Amino acid sequence: MLERTQLYATDISPGALGNARSGILQRPLDVDVLERYKASGGRGELREYFTPLNGQLRLNDNLLQRIAFEKHDLVQQPNHVSAHLILCRNVFIYFGHELKNRVLDKLADALVPGGFLAIGVEESISLCESYRRFDILSRKAGLFRKKLGC
Ligand SMILES: C[S@@+](CC[C@H](N)C(=O)[O-])C[C@H]1O[C@@H](n2cnc3c(N)ncnc32)[C@H](O)[C@@H]1O
Repeated sequence: MLERTQLYATDISPGALGNARSGILQRPLDVDVLERYKASGGRGELREYFTPLNGQLRLNDNLLQRIAFEKHDLVQQPNHVSAHLILCRNVFIYFGHELKNRVLDKLADALVPGGFLAIGVEESISLCESYRRFDILSRKAGLFRKKLGC
């Protein structure tokens, strides 16, 4: 499956992209990380994906190599992908209503029908007009699915 997967990591900030390229999680390896991994359905060992490095975790090279890191402005630039899953956590917090709606519409355009969108648990998109293009999987977890035919 991994061989058939293309991952894109995008951000408007070169600094954030630099951090991401290093593959190092910007938080210490602690019990919380392991518990969250299990709670989110992780069945294997975390070391299949990460290697401990100086008390932190670094994404393994086989995964890192599959990620295309690109500077991308969600507001100003057009989409160039057709995605099955978009993780856009804690980005909507930067936008007012109009931008939020514009970006949500773009994310919906970028998803295949039935594709998944995850946003931050503190964020809300329910007042956006483009919200009607999604079904709610878990409001609490910030998980949505693009409706078929939308
Ligand atoms: C709070 S951080 C969240 C990072 C990560 N998603 C997470 O949950 O840990 C928000 C990120 O959104 C990026 N961002 C803000 N406006 C953006 C835009 N118009 N296009 C793309 N990225 C943007 C910022 O540079 C920042 O890295």
